[in-house]
Amino acid sequence: MSKFMDWIDARFPATKMWEDHLSKYYAPKNFNFLYFFGSLALLVLVNQIVTGVWLTMSFTPSAEEAFASVEYIMRDVEYGWILRYLHSTGASAFFIVVYLHMFRGLLYGSYQKPRELVWLFGMLIYLALMAEAFMGYLLPWGQMSYWGAQVIISLFGAIPVIGGDLTQWIRGDYLISGITLNRFFALHVVALPIVILGLVVLHILALHEVGSNNPDGVDIKKKKDENGIPLDGIPFHPYYTVKDIVGVVVFLFVFCAVVFFFPEMGGYFLEKPNFEQANAFKTPEHIAPVWYFTPFYAILRAVPDKLMGVIAMGAAIAVLFVLPWLDRSPVRSMRYKGWLSKVFLLVFCIAFVILGILGVLAPTPGRTLLSQVCTVLYFAYFLLMPFYTRLEKTKPVPERVTG
Ligand code: HEM
Repeated sequence: MSKFMDWIDARFPATKMWEDHLSKYYAPKNFNFLYFFGSLALLVLVNQIVTGVWLTMSFTPSAEEAFASVEYIMRDVEYGWILRYLHSTGASAFFIVVYLHMFRGLLYGSYQKPRELVWLFGMLIYLALMAEAFMGYLLPWGQMSYWGAQVIISLFGAIPVIGGDLTQWIRGDYLISGITLNRFFALHVVALPIVILGLVVLHILALHEVGSNNPDGVDIKKKKDENGIPLDGIPFHPYYTVKDIVGVVVFLFVFCAVVFFFPEMGGYFLEKPNFEQANAFKTPEHIAPVWYFTPFYAILRAVPDKLMGVIAMGAAIAVLFVLPWLDRSPVRSMRYKGWLSKVFLLVFCIAFVILGILGVLAPTPGRTLLSQVCTVLYFAYFLLMPFYTRLEKTKPVPERVTG
C-alpha cells in the first residue's frame, strides 16, 4: 500500500492534499453546531448534482413535453418520484443551510480580515445559487414556473434604454417560450453547476489558506507549540470529519422526513399552481416566488417606483458583498462586541424573516407599510455598521479559545 502511495505521490500530490486539507489542517477546537452547515452545504450540493443527473435522463426540455415528462418521472420512471422529491426538497434545504451558514458568519465576524475572500467567494456562490434555483424552477413548466419567470424577467425591463432589448435577449423570444426553457435547461444543468463547483473549491482553498475562524473569534495561530501546531487547534481529520457525521445524521433525519411525508411543505417547497401546466393566457390569481427569494421580493414591492424597487432589491444583495469593509469593530465575535451590534443583528434577522413572510402574501396597504419599515431596518444594519461598531464598547477578547 505504501509503495503504491509512493508511486502516486511521485506523480500527483495525493498525500500532500490529504494532509494540507484534512489530517494536518488544524481547526479551532471550539466549533459549535453552527459549524455543521458548511459540510451540510457540500452534502446538499452533491445531492443536487446526483439527483439532477438522473432526473435529466428522463426529462424533456421542450414547451410541449416538459410538464408531461415530469409527470412521467413521478408516475412511471422507477424511483423517479424519490429522485424528484430529493431534488426539489434539496433546493429548499440548500437555502436553509446556506442562510444558517451565512448567519454564523455574521455572528462570529468570519468575514473580517483575513477572511474577506472567503466571504466574497461565498457571496458569488450565493448569487450563482439564486440563478441556479430560478432557472431550475422554470423547467417543470407549471403555471408558477411560467409566471414567476415572467415577473422576474420583466424586472429587467425597468432598466432605462436597454430594458426592452435585455428582456428579449434573456428570453430569446418575444415572450417566455420553449426557447427560454431550452436555454434555462442548458444553464441549469451544465453552466451554473460548473460555476458553483469551481467557486466552492476557491471558497475552501481561501479558507484553508488563512484557517477557520471560531465562536470566540480568537486567532489560534498566535499561540503555537514547539512544533508550530496551534495550541487550540485539532486536526480536521479525524476530529471534525467524525463530528460532521453527527450533523449529517441529524440533517438526514429531518430531510428524509420532509422528502417522505411533506415534499410539498404546504405549498412552500412545491407551489400549488405548479401542478397545472403553464398557460400564457391564464395568469394565476397570486404570483409569489419560492420562499427563499421572498425577502428580496418584499423589498422590491416595498418601493413604489418599479426602477427604484429593482435598484433596492439589487442593493440589498450587493451590500452583503462589502460587509467586510463595513464592520470596523476591533473584535470579531458577537460574544465580545457591544450591545449595539447585538441589537442591530437581532433586528436585522427579525426584519429579514418578516420580509420573507410578507413576500409570500398578497400586498395590502398595511403590509406594504410594514415591508417599508423592514426594508429600512435591513439597510440600517449595514449602512450604520461603520458607526455602531466603532462607537460601542467591546469586551476584552481572551488569549485562548474559551471552549
Ligand atoms: C454551496 C454553498 C457553500 C458551501 C458548499 C460552503 C462550504 C463551506 C465549508 C465546507 C466551510 C468550512 C466549514 C465551516 O466553517 O462551516 C465554509 C466556511 C465559510 N463559508 Fe461557506 N459554503 C457555501 C456558501 C457560503 C456563502 C453563501 C457564504 C457567505 C456569503 C459563505 C461564507 C463562509 C465563511 C465566512 C466561512 C468561514 C467561517 C469561519 O471560519 O468561521 N459560504 N464554507
